[in-house]
Amino acid sequence: MRVRLSARPINPSDLLFIQGSYGREAHFAPRPEMGTRGSGWAVAGFEGAGTVDALGSGTRGPAPGTMVAVAATGTWQEQVCVPSTSVIPIAPGVSAEAACQLTVNPFTAHLLMRDIALDPGDTLLLTAGASAVSRMVIHLASKRGLRCLPVVRRRGQARALARLGAQPLTVSSADALAEAVRGTPGHGQVGMVLDAVGGALGDAALRCLRPAGRFLSYGMLSGHPLSIHPDDLVFRQVSVQGFWLPARMEHLGEKELSSLTREVQDAVVCGLPGLEVAERHDLTDFGCALDRAMRPGREGKVVLTG
Ligand SMILES: NC(=O)c1ccc[n+]([C@@H]2O[C@H](COP(=O)([O-])OP(=O)(O)OC[C@H]3O[C@@H](n4cnc5c(N)ncnc54)[C@H](OP(=O)(O)O)[C@@H]3O)[C@@H](O)[C@H]2O)c1
Repeated sequence: MRVRLSARPINPSDLLFIQGSYGREAHFAPRPEMGTRGSGWAVAGFEGAGTVDALGSGTRGPAPGTMVAVAATGTWQEQVCVPSTSVIPIAPGVSAEAACQLTVNPFTAHLLMRDIALDPGDTLLLTAGASAVSRMVIHLASKRGLRCLPVVRRRGQARALARLGAQPLTVSSADALAEAVRGTPGHGQVGMVLDAVGGALGDAALRCLRPAGRFLSYGMLSGHPLSIHPDDLVFRQVSVQGFWLPARMEHLGEKELSSLTREVQDAVVCGLPGLEVAERHDLTDFGCALDRAMRPGREGKVVLTG
């Protein structure tokens, strides 16, 4: 089917893709080349929202005119042709700007929740604590009775996270993290870390885990590697895992995928946090939009419109 797109977010994964450092593109396939049409030419953007424009002959799917969220590579253009399995019809009342963010972060947050084997009252530490994914996880984890410690760099972010029921830790450097964790009630009992930063902050977060705690890496915002001491793995029995949405989605059966999709749609309709928009830029103004997306201290996504 052909979808005429009207909104696409700029996510951290888009920046990695453009830099040639994203997932399969970086490790398994020829790197995408931007700008010149021909073999290897690639369009950025992993998700978006728009209106079904036309169905191919014999194609079943939402009727022309239906608003849909799209999961596909190459959404930073006016229209895409995708199979009907790549679109999700959007409930009335959900804006295109929220819908365009539906297929990556909300699915990630819901699947991360399935990996969090903690009991009510246990502590979850989240680096990049003010990110869209973290805010979604905090919202879902708080409902399960988990104590969330999101790590942030700014006091304003901490105040917003406290309103979601978290106990935010504002730290100016990785060295300050252990002490900040020790200063919270139930200190030293971090059962799981969700890390999207890596580098020194990821290392410091791992060292905050209680014995037999779990460290789940799902992002690389610092651009630096984790350095894990064998003592933590051997004597403290800490376990380390990675999470990648495309790999997880590949392993979902049809029934699991449709129940997850319903769960995500319901959460979005009920006001899942983390879908806020900080700035809108016309698609043709993508250079400025990228510049804004790379600046620290945003309070929502930069969205490409038009
Ligand atoms: N593995 C997967 O399948 C998967 C799927 C979805 C998302 N992700 C990852 O999840 C992470 C969050 O994505 P998002 O879309 O939720 O992000 P986002 O809303 O764009 O927010 C990014 C946040 O990260 C913080 N940050 C950036 N660089 C940092 C650094 N070096 N140290 C500490 N904090 C830093 C920013 O803080 P400031 O405001 O202080 O700048 C901001 O609050 C990204 O790493 C993304 O790649 C992974």
